[in-house]
Amino acid sequence: MKSRLSLVVSVVVLFASIAAFAAPAVLLPKGYRSWKKSERKVVTDKSSLFYGIHYIYADTKAMKGYQAGNRFAEGSRIIVEHFNIKGNPAVDGPKNMVVMMRKDKRFQKTGGWQFSGFGANGKPSGIDPVATCFGCHLKDASQRDFVISTVKDFK
Ligand code: HEC
Repeated sequence: MKSRLSLVVSVVVLFASIAAFAAPAVLLPKGYRSWKKSERKVVTDKSSLFYGIHYIYADTKAMKGYQAGNRFAEGSRIIVEHFNIKGNPAVDGPKNMVVMMRKDKRFQKTGGWQFSGFGANGKPSGIDPVATCFGCHLKDASQRDFVISTVKDFK
């Protein structure tokens, strides 16, 4: 009886961990604003996802990856904080969204990176990374580990 109970418990735990993997609750890492920050980037092409103003933040591992010519170690994290243009493009408008790439070999469908999106409030926006994110990164950076920016964006 006891062993049957523990079997039930382990099956439940197993399913819970599969569910957790299928829908990982990704959170924005606290303190990413103290990571290495790119120069200010303004995109004036209205058809671009990044139309507006953005800054890229890279953690220590990701910076090493940029310095190695875009070859990133497992766990590297890169974040883009995006702002709208409101009136004068020299001033950041309201924050619009935050996106993150985290190198994780489990995510083979998206080049070994976990893509995630957040609203201006930092809450997950529930995007579908394959449909929403990977296309551009595959097209623009398949030879650069799917990371479009380079070390030149960081001074
Ligand atoms: C329309 C094309 C396009 C789509 C769709 C797109 N990106 Fe990007 N992404 C870019 C471009 C272009 C850059 C480089 C920006 C720069 O150089 O400042 C970029 C940069 C990034 C970066 C910084 C690292 C890098 O590759 O330079 C992250 C993180 C990122 N995108 C995440 C996402 C996520 C998450 C999604 C899905 C919500 C997404 N992107 C969808 C075009 C796209």
